[in-house]
Amino acid sequence: MHTPLPLRPGGPALAKPMVIAIDGPAGAGKSTVTRLLARRLNILYLDTGAMYRAATVGIIDSGIDREDAIEVARYVSARHIDFDEHGMVVMDGQVLAKERIRSPAITAEIWRVANNARCREHLVRLQKDLVAGRDVVVEGRDATTVICPDAQLKIFLDASAEERARRRLGEWPANEAKPTLDEMVHTIRDRDGLDMKREVGPLTISDDAVYLLTDGQHLSEVVARIMAYAVQRQPFLLEKVVSNQLVVGRSRQPGYVRVADGTDGAWQLGLTNPDPERMPGTTRTITRNHGGRQAGSLLQGAAILCLAGVGDHPHHVVALPMLPQTWYVIEPGAWHAVIQVQGTICAWAESSGIREEQATMTPEQIAEMNAYLDVYLPK
Ligand code: C5P
Repeated sequence: MHTPLPLRPGGPALAKPMVIAIDGPAGAGKSTVTRLLARRLNILYLDTGAMYRAATVGIIDSGIDREDAIEVARYVSARHIDFDEHGMVVMDGQVLAKERIRSPAITAEIWRVANNARCREHLVRLQKDLVAGRDVVVEGRDATTVICPDAQLKIFLDASAEERARRRLGEWPANEAKPTLDEMVHTIRDRDGLDMKREVGPLTISDDAVYLLTDGQHLSEVVARIMAYAVQRQPFLLEKVVSNQLVVGRSRQPGYVRVADGTDGAWQLGLTNPDPERMPGTTRTITRNHGGRQAGSLLQGAAILCLAGVGDHPHHVVALPMLPQTWYVIEPGAWHAVIQVQGTICAWAESSGIREEQATMTPEQIAEMNAYLDVYLPK
């Protein structure tokens, strides 16, 4: 007779939505990072800059007198701006093309909306409505300070002006005249000045934000680092992400594991002690199982479980600290590695007939794994 699987720790639903707010200067990689983060966590992405851009398209296309701040405020305050299911910005029911809202001509005029207190007030109200009650990543200049001051995780994403200029030039539209690197650095410094010195909603680093300088880092490494901070604050956030690779259960006994496997007596139980090959910073291989499940539990010390998806090759790495008295059951076919930290004893069990296959992690996967370890195991 099968006992039903126990509820996962944390219960079926998270009571409080997880809000991650990300601010930073223009060109720091916020949009790319935030979009990927939202996709990996399977939560909503709110690009507040796109709303400022849409409003700017509006003041230009409508032909209003854009020198007149009162007129601009009146026009923008009457607009409804949100997003469609593909993440495209929609103003009063009309989808706006990405090329248009991101064109340098629009960027040059945004200050008319961004520096206008009444426009900001309206856009912030719309943004708060979009965020309410949802698991979401919000990106902007005032996401950590004004839109989501209570966010569980606040990130200030930065990069040097030179690095940002190089990134912006790399994605410059083919049909627009391309500035030199020096000109671009100046433009970026000017925009930083405008964003930081304006009287309403200036770009500032909130006291409780994590500061991340991304110069020279892989995109996936930056995303991994933010995922690690998010998991530190809300451990069960990862449940959705890794659910096809992992079952987590709390029990003193590996009995839970037997239930998960649906068979009796098929488990061999072993202990693993720290192994120099599997210490932080040394693991380079990742394993997948064929023909059965494996389960591990932490008896003492600390260990990190890295998962890299199911399929022919390991994907991006997601790592989570193993908790005591918790069994981590690795699903057949899931790529995984257990990183042991000094003083660790893990109990390990597997169903009979299991066959293991190993792969070498790519430099990018190693960078991702190390990003998690940096956050979980600060030096
Ligand atoms: O993020 P993005 O570069 O698309 O933002 C465009 C401009 O919109 C920024 O330079 C900034 O002036 C303004 N903005 C803002 N507050 C936000 C988002 C963007 O003032 N929350």
